[in-house]
Amino acid sequence: MVEHHPVLLEEVITYLRCEDGKTYVDCTLGGGGHAAHILEKSSPTGRLLGIDWDPEAIRISRDRLKEYGGRVFLVRDNFSNLTRIVKDRGFQSVDGILLDLGVSSFQLEHGKRGFSFRGEAPLDMRMDPNRREMAADLINRLPVRELERLLKAYGETRWAKRVTRLIEGRRKKGFISTTTELRSIVHSAIPAPLHPRRIDPATKTFMALRIAVNEELDNLKTVLEEALSVLGRGGRICVISFHSLEDRLVKEFFRMAEKGCTCPPHLPQCVCHGEKTLKVVEPKPIRPSQKEIEENPRARSAKLRVAERI
Ligand SMILES: C[S@@+](CC[C@H](N)C(=O)[O-])C[C@H]1O[C@@H](n2cnc3c(N)ncnc32)[C@H](O)[C@@H]1O
Repeated sequence: MVEHHPVLLEEVITYLRCEDGKTYVDCTLGGGGHAAHILEKSSPTGRLLGIDWDPEAIRISRDRLKEYGGRVFLVRDNFSNLTRIVKDRGFQSVDGILLDLGVSSFQLEHGKRGFSFRGEAPLDMRMDPNRREMAADLINRLPVRELERLLKAYGETRWAKRVTRLIEGRRKKGFISTTTELRSIVHSAIPAPLHPRRIDPATKTFMALRIAVNEELDNLKTVLEEALSVLGRGGRICVISFHSLEDRLVKEFFRMAEKGCTCPPHLPQCVCHGEKTLKVVEPKPIRPSQKEIEENPRARSAKLRVAERI
């Protein structure tokens, strides 16, 4: 199995201020990379609550973290249920929360999960296998306009219209069910001389579908709000994002919480009564060093934002 290199590891450990006796939540446990280091740095009694909705992540991490014994609590759930998860485990509040968004290497490399365009697999892309709709369902069911909007918004690709048109034509011949079918549609939608050189032309389409299938932006919005109710005073939240929409959402949420308002922008007036809930620790996002990017190219688009509960 391909090992997942935890992104911005040193920075996360430093900003979370991992210490003995404290309690941390890793909302995106994955292969347990960040979690293992948090446990190491908070030895000998610091506790870690690890959440992931992918049963495979829980299985891998349970094995990887077994040496930490009773200091580790693993839960298979959607991190958007953070408050309930934390209370169910009997914690009053926590000292640090980590969100490392996106997919894990084991999900990308697993032949049957459909996250990657390398190799043939069913167009699935569900991180939680209990979710109702797979990528193939969306591709074949969504009205063309909606599909185009989704590819444009989440994939930030200028070829969304052409890709969608080809998908529409292909749908008339039958169900699009595999990663290779979708990849070849995207390849033929983009004129060959304009194919990007550094990434596969299908990268952005696959990313957009993954975000939609897993409702990643909605879950992020919810977990940020939930984090406010479980973080103790002085506790920190670290969010690593790989997509500009996610980063914008985190930046905006932190800014509003610092100003003392977390109401959604569509509300005509503030209903949260202006309580300041967070202090932004670094105004600019923290980026991986050149050395880290060379060693782990997956880190290149990562941005870390940190805020502290007040
Ligand atoms: C980038 S990986 C985390 C890797 C981890 N930090 C490590 O070092 O191994 C992201 C993980 O978050 C999980 N995930 C994404 N959205 C989730 C959600 N809404 N609820 C729970 N887990 C989620 C994915 O299943 C995946 O395993």
